[in-house]
Amino acid sequence: MSDAWEAVEKAGTQTLEALFQAEPDRLSRLTLDENGIRFDFSKTHLTGELVSAFSALAEAQGLAAARDALFSGQIVNVTEGRAAEHTAERGQGAPESVQRAQGFHTRMRALIDAIEAGAFGEIRHVLHVGIGGSALGPDFVIDALGRDEDRYDTAVVSNVDGAALEEAIARFDPKTTLLVIASKTFTTSETMLNAQSALLWMEEGGVADPYGRIVALTASPEKAVEFGVDETRILPFSESVGGRYSLWSSIGFPIALALGWEAFENLLEGAAAMDRHFRLAPPERNAPVLAAFADRYYANVRGAQTRAVFAYDERLRLLPSYLQQLEMESNGKSVTVDGQPVGRATSQITWGGVGTDAQHAVFQLLHQGTHLAPVEFVAAVEPEHGLAFDHHRQLLINCFAQGAALMAGKQSDDPARSYSGDRPSTTILLDRIDPATLGALIAFYEHRTFVNGVLLGINPFDQFGVELGKEIAKSIDAGGLQFDPSTEALIARAFGDAE
Ligand code: F6P
Repeated sequence: MSDAWEAVEKAGTQTLEALFQAEPDRLSRLTLDENGIRFDFSKTHLTGELVSAFSALAEAQGLAAARDALFSGQIVNVTEGRAAEHTAERGQGAPESVQRAQGFHTRMRALIDAIEAGAFGEIRHVLHVGIGGSALGPDFVIDALGRDEDRYDTAVVSNVDGAALEEAIARFDPKTTLLVIASKTFTTSETMLNAQSALLWMEEGGVADPYGRIVALTASPEKAVEFGVDETRILPFSESVGGRYSLWSSIGFPIALALGWEAFENLLEGAAAMDRHFRLAPPERNAPVLAAFADRYYANVRGAQTRAVFAYDERLRLLPSYLQQLEMESNGKSVTVDGQPVGRATSQITWGGVGTDAQHAVFQLLHQGTHLAPVEFVAAVEPEHGLAFDHHRQLLINCFAQGAALMAGKQSDDPARSYSGDRPSTTILLDRIDPATLGALIAFYEHRTFVNGVLLGINPFDQFGVELGKEIAKSIDAGGLQFDPSTEALIARAFGDAE
């Protein structure tokens, strides 16, 4: 394994401009068109030699076997003793898992049909409470695809800050609201508190049976029953679907409700098409694999600590937040699957924003700062709006100009006006933002995250790092325990000495 890493570290590269000169086929080799998406890795420092060295590393790390294990429902999440079966939700997995997922989808569809047939009376608003993977996926997809839909007005509320819930319900009528409680474990404190407050709001708003208006999305149906949800309104999903990989499961209920069943099916089918590409394409023509090679090159060979993602499309504005959980919760680890120190940098810090806004805020650092921060541009050829002027053309021009400028740089006699150039970027250009293409894009990111985990030898499917803070919050809430002087002083200042 370390020999393979050594080969990666030793593989030569040149400046991006020199690479374009030296490799006439560079653009075609490092550009892929898959499922309505152009992936352009040519403005990264990946060379033929680097791709070969990374392919050897992938082989040494058992990527093919790990991928087979993932798709066949074997236990890949070893620390929790579970499979990771999100692909089964889109029909790509062990036959029994696919069948099980289809059963859950059938149940979800039947409930949606019942809602549409008026089983809950008139429903105009959907209040979805959930956090992390039980919120970010649905929020991102509905925000991206739901702008033209007037099926239901949907709000996704995650934060325990009551201001978030208050803002969402301010525009809702409790009598026409469906309360969706999304929690894999059905124990997450923020979600449970938001659910309680929403129920009280419904009760105070004159809803005779607020509990009768709940739909629960969970892998712990018994907990939802304990909470008071009728069994017929619980949409279960499998324990082996990880929270941040769960939008394809019953957690996608608000997506299917807001966009319609056909759109949800197309989302799944787009993801399945990317699954097939990931399974079948050789490493040098495999989009998630090449992306992960570039990720590891910058993080482990060039020492980049971050990776910046800019959505050049308002519809994708929630993409950076979605990716932050996917990438950092998956690969922000320090030990390998065997519990040994990884010995090299793991997940980059994913951050980003929306173009062109970000150009007028953070791009200064990207063009002239001292950090190496590989940039990812994500855009779509087809616009959403119907304005007469050429907004979309200007948006795309700006996107392409930034990538070109990062690479080319510009020398000046005045150092303050010089741009070093040779700054890497990847461009992901969607033909259009529709359910199938978005499904493929999200699956691409899932698999890229998985490949990064395999190359590092870590388990991308657990998240023990989030537990300690939760435990301490509970102890503070319970009172009686002593903490460090700073924390004690903050508690006293906020709640009074009585705490
Ligand atoms: O605290 C992190 C986490 O466990 C995430 O992994 C998960 O997506 C989120 O909390 C919500 O968990 P649940 O769906 O069980 O409420």
